[in-house]
Amino acid sequence: MRRDLSGKRVIVTGSSSGIGRALAMELARRGSQVALAARSIGELDQVAEDIRQKGGQALVIPTDVTSPHDRQQLFETVQQQWGGLDILVNNAGIAAHGHFIDLDPSILRQTMELNFFAMAENCRLAIPMLAEGHAPMIVNVSSMAGRRGVPAWSEYSASKFAVCGFSEALRAELVRFGIDLMLVVPGLTHSNFGKHLLARKGRMPARFDSGLAPEVVGRLMANGMEKGKHELRMEKDARLLLFINWLAPRFVDWRMGNVVRKLYQREIADQAKTPC
Ligand SMILES: NC(=O)c1ccc[n+]([C@@H]2O[C@H](COP(=O)([O-])OP(=O)(O)OC[C@H]3O[C@@H](n4cnc5c(N)ncnc54)[C@H](OP(=O)(O)O)[C@@H]3O)[C@@H](O)[C@H]2O)c1
Repeated sequence: MRRDLSGKRVIVTGSSSGIGRALAMELARRGSQVALAARSIGELDQVAEDIRQKGGQALVIPTDVTSPHDRQQLFETVQQQWGGLDILVNNAGIAAHGHFIDLDPSILRQTMELNFFAMAENCRLAIPMLAEGHAPMIVNVSSMAGRRGVPAWSEYSASKFAVCGFSEALRAELVRFGIDLMLVVPGLTHSNFGKHLLARKGRMPARFDSGLAPEVVGRLMANGMEKGKHELRMEKDARLLLFINWLAPRFVDWRMGNVVRKLYQREIADQAKTPC
């Protein structure tokens, strides 16, 4: 379904930084009312101020989306202030860099709690409101790592695969209510994502600074929302990797294994010397 974003009542989680901030600014520029939800109040106030200075409308709702209480309050506040909701964007997310065996079990819990459980529970709270909304839509932000698992990003890949699986199933369920669902699959984006990592034990550096600007991602997402896209894949290297993986997944397995073998050469050699 094509939609006009003007006048739409939208929640954007994780809008204090990066992609969420850029998307909120872009939606406000296109005439949406934006509810800004994240934990950093100072940053949220600044985004709201930037939006208002450009003539847009923004509502700051400090929210830790992993807290059931905060989630409830987020949707209640929007209902009270705006009388309903048209679009929910589940964008808040986090990752850890390092091999699964080297990271603490709490990292897996934290990653799933934010990237998957909070996203799913936000959908549960939003659906009754969206069912009453205008050209309603849910936008779930996954990742290239949610379509192809990447070494040193195992917890993150798992959480973002969960986002994709959940979203594909939910999209059909939402037909009952006339709600669209767009899945966003970004590649590297030059946001604060690299600064917010829960762990930095990976050996292969992730070059976030070579990725797309968040403003470009925000613009592409807003275009996708207008066009009623089902899935949006961004950034040329990520798109190429997903294409090669579609053609020859075993080749990608082999390449990724080879990279790990090179990075862990010393440990592999030491292990080979150890008597059985
Ligand atoms: N950057 C990339 O290369 C890339 C690639 C693919 C996918 N993505 C996805 O894009 C989304 C946005 O990431 P980004 O690149 O914009 O990273 P970012 O700059 O680090 O922004 C992450 C946002 O999530 C919010 N957040 C974190 N924990 C939260 C919590 N418990 N409750 C509410 N909000 C929370 C942060 O706000 P507070 O700290 O203020 O709460 C921040 O606004 C994520 O889902 C990420 O997985 C990013």
